[in-house]
Amino acid sequence: MALRNLSLKTFLFLGLCQIGRRGFASAPEIRDAPKKIAIIGGGIGGTSAAFFFRQEFGPGVKIDVFEEGTIGGRLATESIAGHEYETGGSIIHPLNLHMKFFVDKLGLSSRADVSSKMAIFDGRDLIFEESDWFIVNFLRMLWRYGFNFIRMHMWVESILDKFMRIYQYQQFGYSFSSVEKMLHAMGGESFLTLANQTLEEAMMAEGFSQLFLNDIVAPVTRVNYGQSVRINGFVGAVSLAGAGSGLWAVDGGNKMVCSGLLYHSKAEVVPARVTTISMKSRPSKAGPVLSFYEVSYVGKSGASHSTYDIVVVATPLHQDVSEINFSGFSPPIPSHFPGQYHQTVATLVHGHLNVSYLGAKDKPEDFYISDILTVDNKASDINSLSALDPVKIPKGYTLLSASHKKVWKIFSSQPLSQNHLQRIFLSWDSVFEKRWLAYPSYNPPQRRTPPFVLHDRLYYLNAVEWAASAMEMSAISSRNLALLAHHRWYQQTGKIDQEDLHTRLRGEL
Ligand SMILES: Cc1cc2nc3c(=O)[nH]c(=O)nc-3n(C[C@H](O)[C@H](O)[C@H](O)COP(=O)(O)OP(=O)(O)OC[C@H]3O[C@@H](n4cnc5c(N)ncnc54)[C@H](O)[C@@H]3O)c2cc1C
Ligand SMILES: *[C@@H]1O[C@H](CO)[C@@H](O)[C@H](O)[C@H]1NC(C)=O
Ligand SMILES: *[C@@H]1O[C@H](CO)[C@@H](O)[C@H](O)[C@H]1NC(C)=O
Ligand SMILES: *[C@@H]1O[C@H](CO)[C@@H](O)[C@H](O)[C@H]1NC(C)=O
Repeated sequence: MALRNLSLKTFLFLGLCQIGRRGFASAPEIRDAPKKIAIIGGGIGGTSAAFFFRQEFGPGVKIDVFEEGTIGGRLATESIAGHEYETGGSIIHPLNLHMKFFVDKLGLSSRADVSSKMAIFDGRDLIFEESDWFIVNFLRMLWRYGFNFIRMHMWVESILDKFMRIYQYQQFGYSFSSVEKMLHAMGGESFLTLANQTLEEAMMAEGFSQLFLNDIVAPVTRVNYGQSVRINGFVGAVSLAGAGSGLWAVDGGNKMVCSGLLYHSKAEVVPARVTTISMKSRPSKAGPVLSFYEVSYVGKSGASHSTYDIVVVATPLHQDVSEINFSGFSPPIPSHFPGQYHQTVATLVHGHLNVSYLGAKDKPEDFYISDILTVDNKASDINSLSALDPVKIPKGYTLLSASHKKVWKIFSSQPLSQNHLQRIFLSWDSVFEKRWLAYPSYNPPQRRTPPFVLHDRLYYLNAVEWAASAMEMSAISSRNLALLAHHRWYQQTGKIDQEDLHTRLRGEL
């Protein structure tokens, strides 16, 4: 038996080698590998693209990453009273497999867990306060919202199940040429519908109550996306998954993943602002016209340009976010796609909270709530108020009550006035404000998401943000584009936009 097994294996092995060799020899024409790849943007999208393009195209290709600001982009930290704090993207879901993989691969780790408690504020009072006792929370929720909570958990879980399919597809090398096709491969028509209706519509259709949407769902969409339950259902589900348990962050700051990926991918960073991408062509010796891309940029030492075989735009092409001109393309490529990015102002205050502002009945020394979400009403002029933990947790660090001076982060859509701060805090010794154009203003139904493919070998990573904006979404998009660019370069069309992958791959396993 063992012998037969062995010989069968050997036979199969030899057979595979044969097929492999034959496949190689009879390929229509072995195209040379690309020589140079440009990536515009050094956030998690651009840096993970550097990693995945290196993985797909091998050690021979030169990869340049252009960054006009700081590596990390919307992942950024600020130093306050001797510690660093996240000011942009901060939490990562336990099932964000690419982020998890990066952290392991780069020898980073997740930040130590600090317990936290959540409350919901209606602009006058705290309408819900999390208790230390799970059963108490559970009974309170059951009393007020019936089974909405459990149903929401199941609903998000079922969406997440389908979402996870993307990792298997990518593992097998499959890629998608548009956001819609990617969503469809994950969750079929139901995902497309979800992405093209509001979260409110989607949840009402599932039988959730208006009370539950107002009191629980809206505070979650407000803290995560600064917007109401009228965001699209897909990003809404991502948002609700981001309110679950097991959330984590990178020890030392999330942006460390970006610098680690750049180092690991042996990409070169060009500290410059890209101004124009033009299509150029020149006749080759063999006859056919070769086209390539010329990237023009402005750095410290002035203006310059370089040519590339493949270009990845890893920054949003939207009004007030990026200004890149595309020249020589037909049909023309716009500098800006329709739609706006939503402003979220992060204000970090090192000071004493006025717990009376929250209508809290506890004394400050008994007030341990760290995450205050807000309902969507006229009285709520902030989106959230959270006590921050530093990106590196010092030894012996514990959750302090509000009687201590702490670092608080407020998200709001408008900058906070001095007056406003005086209502929230008794006193403070520093204030830091960052105005982000944070994520799309989601306004479903939308006509179409922007394309992944802007031109033959010119790709657009941040198109994915119109389904949902998150670190993991940028990483999924960069892996998809690395695979897509590879298959298009080598004309392996069998790995692009395949229908019914889910059933087919299930059969294969
Ligand atoms: C306040 C806030 C909270 C968030 N919370 C979370 C969260 O908890 N969890 C989560 O997963 N996500 C969160 N997000 C979303 C997440 O941060 C983003 O989806 C993600 O970081 C986007 O990464 P990116 O690389 O695609 O884009 P960016 O990080 O925006 O990177 C683009 C880069 O391109 C550079 N650039 C732009 N134009 C040019 C040019 N012409 N030439 C050269 N360089 C250029 C920019 O300087 C920038 O560094 C949050 C975002 C914000 C703002
Ligand atoms: C882009 O092109 C427009 C119109 O040609 C021009 O006004 C603008 O200055 C250009 N922007 C950049 C960044 O080159
Ligand atoms: C704290 O907030 C309460 C309620 O808004 C307010 O009446 C009080 O004056 C504030 N305290 C201080 C010291 O600002
Ligand atoms: C979204 O819905 C609108 C109108 O309901 C429709 O015109 C559009 O084609 C839909 N878009 C997608 C991507 O399904």
